[in-house]
Amino acid sequence: MSDAGLAIIGGTGLTRLKDLEITRREVMHTPYGEPSGPLTYGRYHGHEVIFLPRHGAQHTIPPHQVNYRANLWALRNAGVDTVLAIAAVGGITAEMAPGVIAVPDQIIDYTWSRFHTFFEGDGNEGVTHVDMTYPYSQELRETLIAASRELGLGAVEQGTYAATQGPRLETAAEIDRLERDGCDLVGMTGMPETALARELELRYACCAVVANWAAGRSEGVITMDDIARNLETGMARVKRLLPEVISR
Ligand code: HPA
Repeated sequence: MSDAGLAIIGGTGLTRLKDLEITRREVMHTPYGEPSGPLTYGRYHGHEVIFLPRHGAQHTIPPHQVNYRANLWALRNAGVDTVLAIAAVGGITAEMAPGVIAVPDQIIDYTWSRFHTFFEGDGNEGVTHVDMTYPYSQELRETLIAASRELGLGAVEQGTYAATQGPRLETAAEIDRLERDGCDLVGMTGMPETALARELELRYACCAVVANWAAGRSEGVITMDDIARNLETGMARVKRLLPEVISR
């Protein structure tokens, strides 16, 4: 992968990129407010990357309060053209077991009341409708998939991501509905991030890490302890995957 402009957005379970040799941090201000934190520049396994933890360095920003516009705007302003988004999710369908990593190819937006566009209709430009038929960069998805195959990580190579509002988890009935809609995974940050990346013409893909069976897909209730334990397994896979992705 070219060194020019690769960013990694870290999700829950990945607020720090171990092995990143940090060269500098830059506080950015954007017309949309402040990003989740300073952009962290560094060398990662020999390649230049910018890292940004979506929920802040201390994991204090809940999914509905992430300033997605500021994050993506800041990254693009820093010269980024490719964004690899890491995101913790719940698994709905059978192959999306806790600890699995997945590379979704579709997404459905169930979020509401988030700032979800850069096109506010307040400029001189005409009305803009970006194409979202294929919401993720196929090229970047293929890189992720090839890296996973090379390492034998068994990533699930497609799936539909349901983006829910959070911060609460879903009811069992809501998960049944998402499955009827064709969703395989459920997370709280995929939108508007994916759409905003498209509006900025960024190459964007998601590496989802299954933290838990979604509500009603296992016995009992979902505990934060279970999520933390499964995320550890999944993020260990991500940490093996990333250097291989970046070397391609
Ligand atoms: N639902 C929504 N978002 C999530 C979940 C979930 O079960 N697990 C991790 N992020």
